[in-house]
Amino acid sequence: MHAKAAASTADVIMLDLEDSCPAAEKTAARAVVAASLNTLDWGGKTMTLRINPVDSPFALRDLLEVIPASGVRLDTVVLPKVESAGDLAFVDRALTALEAEAGIETPIGIEAIIESARALRDADAIAAASPRMRCLVFGIADYSASVNMPLTSVSGHGEADGVYPGDPLHFVYGRLIMCGKAAGLQVIDAPYGNFRDPEGLLRAAARSRALGFDGKWAIHPSQLEGLNRVFAPDDAEVARAREVIAAYEAAQAQGRGAAAIGGSMIDQASLRMARDVVRRMEAVHAKHGEQK
Ligand code: GLV
Ligand code: MG
Repeated sequence: MHAKAAASTADVIMLDLEDSCPAAEKTAARAVVAASLNTLDWGGKTMTLRINPVDSPFALRDLLEVIPASGVRLDTVVLPKVESAGDLAFVDRALTALEAEAGIETPIGIEAIIESARALRDADAIAAASPRMRCLVFGIADYSASVNMPLTSVSGHGEADGVYPGDPLHFVYGRLIMCGKAAGLQVIDAPYGNFRDPEGLLRAAARSRALGFDGKWAIHPSQLEGLNRVFAPDDAEVARAREVIAAYEAAQAQGRGAAAIGGSMIDQASLRMARDVVRRMEAVHAKHGEQK
């Protein structure tokens, strides 16, 4: 699986010591993860490691064993089942000590999975808990379990709804995005569980992007192409952004603060959005080459 992941078109790889790893395998898995980080060619991918929750019997040793062995190739630690800003402080301090011991010069970031009612309530404090924070991730299955939402699909990863009039997670998404963005973080949506339902995946991804999510976890390689397509600006979007930038700059040169394209008014907010589209397109090209 690790070799396949290394050869894939994912932007980010998360090696998992938590819920996909059985308790009896936790010890052996640490060595596997460290070896994969050190020996496989991950190219320009962002490399992340999901450790176990801080109050589990495993988390501390996950850090103690993997960081000195291969922390230098690790971009972030993904912390599941975060319950408070204190959980982040603990991991932050542990990383500081381990980085110093191992001579790791680039600080390792932290991604927090928000997957309980308490974490969602305190998501603003969690997002601002450490300068290492990079993003909030939505843990849909554990969150649904935490608030006793009925299981409407096989995996509980967002495949089915229809009972509730509207999206039952709408508030959750809005709060996550607000808290993450207010702290300057990226916000990443949960994976779509049914990897044999490409249309459902595209619908879910388009909805996430429309709300401001920066990306979505994939649970299977077959989901990567669709996710990369939905979250990367397409040619029409880039062309429109360039038109907005050119029109705004021309207006500015004439001392005006707003302009019009067709019948639509554009101002500084339009310029900001257009520049963001171009920045995202450049980031995609940097990771995947011109054809993405
Ligand atoms: C992910 O960890 C989830 O609980 O959905
Ligand atoms: Mg979870």
